[in-house]
Amino acid sequence: MNPVLDYLRQHEARFISELCDYVRFPSVSAQPQHQVDMRACADWLAQHARQIGLTAEVCPTAGHPVVVAHTPRQTGARRPHFLVYGHYDVQPPEPFELWKSPPFEPRIEGRSLFARGACDNKGQHLAHLNAVEAYLKTGTELPCDLTFVVEGEEEVGSSNLAAFLQQHRAEFDVDAVVISDTGMPARNLPALTYALRGLTALEVKLTGPSRDLHSGIFGGSLDNPAMALCQLLGQLRDRHGRVAVPGFYDDVVKLTPFERKQLARLPFNETAYRKFLGVPRLFGEEGYTAWEQRAARPTLEINGLTSGYQGEGSKTIVPAWASAKLTMRLVPNQDPRRIARLVTQRLKQLCPPTVRLEVKAGHDAEAYLFSPTSPAAQAALRALQTAFGREPVLLREGGSIPIVTDFKKILGVDTLLLGLALPDDNAHSPNEKFDLDNFTAGMRLGACLWPELVAAC
Ligand code: BES
Ligand code: ZN
Repeated sequence: MNPVLDYLRQHEARFISELCDYVRFPSVSAQPQHQVDMRACADWLAQHARQIGLTAEVCPTAGHPVVVAHTPRQTGARRPHFLVYGHYDVQPPEPFELWKSPPFEPRIEGRSLFARGACDNKGQHLAHLNAVEAYLKTGTELPCDLTFVVEGEEEVGSSNLAAFLQQHRAEFDVDAVVISDTGMPARNLPALTYALRGLTALEVKLTGPSRDLHSGIFGGSLDNPAMALCQLLGQLRDRHGRVAVPGFYDDVVKLTPFERKQLARLPFNETAYRKFLGVPRLFGEEGYTAWEQRAARPTLEINGLTSGYQGEGSKTIVPAWASAKLTMRLVPNQDPRRIARLVTQRLKQLCPPTVRLEVKAGHDAEAYLFSPTSPAAQAALRALQTAFGREPVLLREGGSIPIVTDFKKILGVDTLLLGLALPDDNAHSPNEKFDLDNFTAGMRLGACLWPELVAAC
């Protein structure tokens, strides 16, 4: 008999319908046409937080607003205080035609809720809010103060949140940060993520002729920017799957034997993984396992390529320009700015004189590494065990959450990453979903975590 857990069970259907309401907002931070939807989504969340008994505000920033909500404060001695972070912004839903149902019209099939933002990240932080609701509505005393910070710019690099944290430092005098915005290696295998990759983004543009030209009349007498871009980018990776940029690996910290052992214990079946990805064969940096490649080694990826005619049928032109969006995923100790500089320098060296090169730096984030043996990490592992009824594993992950290193720098605290997303939840892909069993396990996690953390910190 635990009133908080009972409450969570009894109200499950309503929690699911509230998650449906939340994911109906097309809160796409990257697309200016969704500015009004962003604000409406933030308002909905703040209103929801108020309804369940928190104080909440929608706070303006230079970009999209941040929702800040506090549990009711008690008078008297300072209690442990934790910050729960999440983001209400989502990735662009395109390409629409690959969705089985519209991205912002939630659909439930079995124990899956399909919608953009369902797992990344609306469902995951809503689970924590639901747990708090259960404490407040059953009159069960929370053993600590909680502050929720749910931002609207995570998917575009969190560029305004650090300044916001600086300005409101006093409000955020917390002992640790908790984030559910990572994954689990498999269903029923809860994980504490103790490392994230960082990232740095570049946009590369090659310009050739002053306009698209007839490729029959002029082709052959000038360089083709699209071809030049392919050749240029092609030189950034060698045949061993390594990034061919001098200095790129200089600061990489080697994986320890302990870490390699931890990663080797994770479930992995090459054929199943290959089929799941839909590729004819896997590819990666030689000398590393797939888990190591995707979680703990740096990479250079082309995220998008644009040039010439993209419509139906053919158009015989030499395009005027070609551009690419690149991101480099980084591991602990690599400096995002230095890596952006090195890649830019290399592009300049390699660029032929037949085209003009322009490189624009984008957002960046440092990698994160946290000791999985700290008392807080041990407390989180116990809470995961209770919530899922399974022994959790330690995980390094390849994704990035830009603000975690700022939590350390600005607030001086570590972040516990307790992810609820499954590998097949399709984060950033068409048909994103959230597993409803993980939603309820996440609520139980939110219920068990605070007493464990308070006892440990
Ligand atoms: N939830 C992800 C981060 C993540 C996913 C971490 C899976 C670990 C495992 C987050 O929403 C995200 O997508 N972050 C971006 C950050 C970028 C835009 C700066 C990313 O990793 O691409
Ligand atoms: Zn994301």
